[in-house]
Amino acid sequence: MARVFSGVQPSGSPHIGNYFGAWTRWATEQEAGHFYCIVDLHAITAPHDPAELRERTIDLACWLLAVGLDPERCTLFVQSHVREHTECAWVLDCVATMGELKRMTQFKEKSQGRDSVSVGMFNYPVLQAADILLYHAEEVPVGADQRQHIELSRDIAGRFNQRFGQTFTLPKATFPTSGARIMDLQHVENKMSKSAQSPQGTIDLADTEAATRKKIMRAVTDSGTEIRAAPDKQGVTNLLDLLSAATGSGVPALEAELEGQRYGDFKKTVADAVNERLRPVRERHAELREDPAAVQAMLARGAERARETASATMVDVRAKVGLTG
Ligand code: TYM
Repeated sequence: MARVFSGVQPSGSPHIGNYFGAWTRWATEQEAGHFYCIVDLHAITAPHDPAELRERTIDLACWLLAVGLDPERCTLFVQSHVREHTECAWVLDCVATMGELKRMTQFKEKSQGRDSVSVGMFNYPVLQAADILLYHAEEVPVGADQRQHIELSRDIAGRFNQRFGQTFTLPKATFPTSGARIMDLQHVENKMSKSAQSPQGTIDLADTEAATRKKIMRAVTDSGTEIRAAPDKQGVTNLLDLLSAATGSGVPALEAELEGQRYGDFKKTVADAVNERLRPVRERHAELREDPAAVQAMLARGAERARETASATMVDVRAKVGLTG
């Protein structure tokens, strides 16, 4: 059994990119030794509203439970509840280099056009490395946009081990066969994203079935008629990827099955499949929202369990680095 860690930020509204890119595997592959984390400390690297963050943290926990994470089988917790994350991040800050952080494409994208960028946003990938390394995770199930961050975590772990002796496991990212990079339905050159700059291009898990259908029916395609994945057919390719993720059928099989269909009918098929997949998740989420106290209690138990592993790792890290006490 591989040890697994992954995380999601409680910022913006969760969308089908999060669901198909990462969460479905979290739910189907979960077992003891798997840690799933709501990374609230990452969510404060950009300007935020405190009340909204509190609300989003609980809401995100409800979504993760609704998707099928079972706190009896895996450990689900909130990052800031386990103080070792920030402590470990500081130690790793002293191992990571400015040069490698400056190369992170996500930092470049997120900081672009801002007058002032927090140090936290720059250090963001080091905190992410701390998340993963504290739990000795071998695998990190994520969407394709996180590849570079996981590679950096691996580099930092390797450098620490070389300098101070074998301490951390080297993690590797794992990606789904389909849905690793769901693109915005209106701007197909951009990945679907929580920042909601494109509400019509993003399908939130919280959207109604009618809204989901409408967005898919209006998705940008091309002027052709063929339903085929190709570099010059980004819109159609994205919808095929989405259909593949929602149904579990491979893209070549879907291309054969859909041959001759019009784009309108194809989009209807995609909308039905997505709504069908999300229906039980949306229903369960609505139920869970009714008892936030129970969700909070579950998160407290998760943090306790996570702390056992994280604190044992930090005892080792402190000793290796020469910190006394
Ligand atoms: P976040 O919160 O942006 O996204 C959570 C997960 O959803 C995936 N994802 C997507 N997958 C496919 N298509 C998309 N359009 C799409 N958008 C998002 C992400 O790849 C991710 O797996 N830095 C991380 C959070 C994090 C983390 C960690 C992840 C903090 N510590 C440790 C793994 C391990 C992030 O911002 O994810």
